[in-house]
Amino acid sequence: MASPVVDKAYLKEIDKARRDLRALISSRNCAPIMLRLAWHDAGTYDVKTKTGGPNGSIRNEEEYAHGSNNGLKKAVDFCEEVKSRHPKITYADLYQLAGVVAVEVTGGPTIDFSPGRKDSKISPKEGRLPDAKRGAPHLRDIFYRMGLSDKDIVALSGAHTLGRAHPERSGFDGPWTQEPLKFDNSYFVELLKGESEGLLKLPSDTALLDDPEFRNFVELYAKDEEEFFKDFAGSHKKLSELGFTSSSSSKIIPKDSTILAQGAVGVAVAAAVVILGYLYEARKRM
Ligand code: HEM
Repeated sequence: MASPVVDKAYLKEIDKARRDLRALISSRNCAPIMLRLAWHDAGTYDVKTKTGGPNGSIRNEEEYAHGSNNGLKKAVDFCEEVKSRHPKITYADLYQLAGVVAVEVTGGPTIDFSPGRKDSKISPKEGRLPDAKRGAPHLRDIFYRMGLSDKDIVALSGAHTLGRAHPERSGFDGPWTQEPLKFDNSYFVELLKGESEGLLKLPSDTALLDDPEFRNFVELYAKDEEEFFKDFAGSHKKLSELGFTSSSSSKIIPKDSTILAQGAVGVAVAAAVVILGYLYEARKRM
């Protein structure tokens, strides 16, 4: 499928969809599942084969029926309501925009959003997303395959500050934090506290404590929420753009630099005219 043309009309539609998503997510309290949808669409990326990634393919039954995507059909359907009002926007953009808005409306950092993702009908085979029952080496295998780093793994895991596990979806039960609709650094604070009555710790969460490299980031983010917000915003943007080059960097910037270059030539010509004029006047006075 071709990339959408990111012109003024498309950007205006994105802005309207953003407003619709804000209203929908706030009124239905569905920020956690919308963020999980964005992550599961993007997290299938394979940097070597350049397959998977944030391309809207999770809307295909073949993919949302994967065991790891249990429960996400609900979020696909919520997004369909927005898509029907803004048909121009690709599913790929819409799901990533939903993730960004979910973080924003629950009090998290503002994440820069660049539109222009292509939709794909091709779904990757099952098994590209992480298994919650496994530890640090598995997390590294999965996230390095996407082209992400240790810091990205820990920062992004902080998304579990939102939402909960559902026994009928994943076999796990309960929220990670006391306020699962508030995006803050409490996931890391709770992780360091150890077992807490009623709060969940997946094996993939505790793996972040056992690995010294990961643990450094856990300790930093538990201590410094600002640092977590900054890194989360950066890592989430990377996740949401796996395999995608935004047209704003490939098209608009060269255009701006052409204007800049033209401006520079204009200034140089004007300066030369002034200097020549001065020399001419000076010669006349000699
Ligand atoms: C590090 C590897 C990860 C593993 C193993 C993992 C695993 C899980 C599991 C088992 C659930 C419970 C699903 C359910 O029963 O409803 C869940 C929920 C969730 N995950 Fe992750 N996750 C990981 C990373 C991430 C990342 C990177 C994000 C986002 C950037 C994320 C966002 C969420 C959210 C928001 C929920 C709550 C969904 C809800 O309340 O319906 N997770 N995750």
